Amino acid sequence: MLRARIIATGSYVPDRVVTNRDLEKTIDTTDEWITERTGIRERRIAAASQASSDLAFEAAQRALKQAHLKPKDIDLVIVATCTPDMAFPSTACFLQDRLGIKHSGAFDINAACSGFVYGLHLASSLIRTEAHKRILLVGAEVLSRVTDWEDRTPCVLFGDGAGAVIIEGTKEKRGIISTHIQADGGLSELIMLPGGGTRTPCSKDMLLKRLQYIKMKGNETFKVAVRTLEELAARTIHDNGLDPSQLSLLIPHQANLRIIQATAKRLNLPEEKVFVNIEKYGNTSAASIPIALDEAVHAGRVKDGDHILLEAFGGGLTWASALLRW
Ligand code: COA
Repeated sequence: MLRARIIATGSYVPDRVVTNRDLEKTIDTTDEWITERTGIRERRIAAASQASSDLAFEAAQRALKQAHLKPKDIDLVIVATCTPDMAFPSTACFLQDRLGIKHSGAFDINAACSGFVYGLHLASSLIRTEAHKRILLVGAEVLSRVTDWEDRTPCVLFGDGAGAVIIEGTKEKRGIISTHIQADGGLSELIMLPGGGTRTPCSKDMLLKRLQYIKMKGNETFKVAVRTLEELAARTIHDNGLDPSQLSLLIPHQANLRIIQATAKRLNLPEEKVFVNIEKYGNTSAASIPIALDEAVHAGRVKDGDHILLEAFGGGLTWASALLRW
């Protein structure tokens, strides 16, 4: 039986660090409030010259280097993003061009913060059906461009970054064991970027209403996130015939430390089995899990044979999980 397997990871975050103390100077907030409510201490912000494909390019190059592969070895490029360079061409097409790949397909997917795990679901199927041999999947976001820096609640949450993985087939009993994706479009109003699309095109009025920025009902989003992620994590483990104690590492979407802790508690996982880097980067949406996975690999926290659970939650609403055997 052919399975899909992540053979390499890479990540990139911009150099510029904005700390909670920096934000205290521009909005009515405190380092204490942000740290206590979210776990975030600082975030990275892209340079004015950097778009999502530029961040994706850096992450992809690092993954290719780790895999000892050349761009020509890739036969499909998928970018998960809700902050594309532009509506079209896709960010994946810009990335493909930067990498110098000529012969592959390239497209974006958008499931907001769940985009990367949705991408794993898709890539895994495409590998198992042998439609593609080797897929480059990148989560890349420049959320700082769609964050209202005058709205103190969402602006403390988000950051920029990119994470990449290379996926190919294996006949070994390892790789992406299962994936699960879900959505509830009825809850779309909890977190959205309303302006600039075909519903509310760019106009002076739209800009005056600041609809080009993320709008979020934080408290309600929080409650749904805790409920759905706890349930999804438990079900993913159970459906694969495992007990939570057999999990080596949980790599959750980094949206809020309290959401992460609630899932860990439900699974009875000790702190050392939960990967957290939210304090450094905030919520980087589709980039958060591949950045965390790459850091976990480099920190030696992922070993052959380990069961690793990835889980994400985001606008849509969407949520998704992937169980890996490394
Ligand atoms: N600094 C200081 N005070 C702030 C603040 C800030 N940046 N933002 C909000 N507050 C204030 C509010 O005005 C409110 O004040 P009040 O009690 O006087 O009315 C108080 O803090 C509590 O606000 P609330 O929104 O209830 O806080 P919360 O505990 O829900 O935390 C979030 C807010 C955004 C951190 C939290 O709801 C959250 O993380 N939600 C999930 C968001 C998310 O994950 N979104 C992405 C999904 S992928």
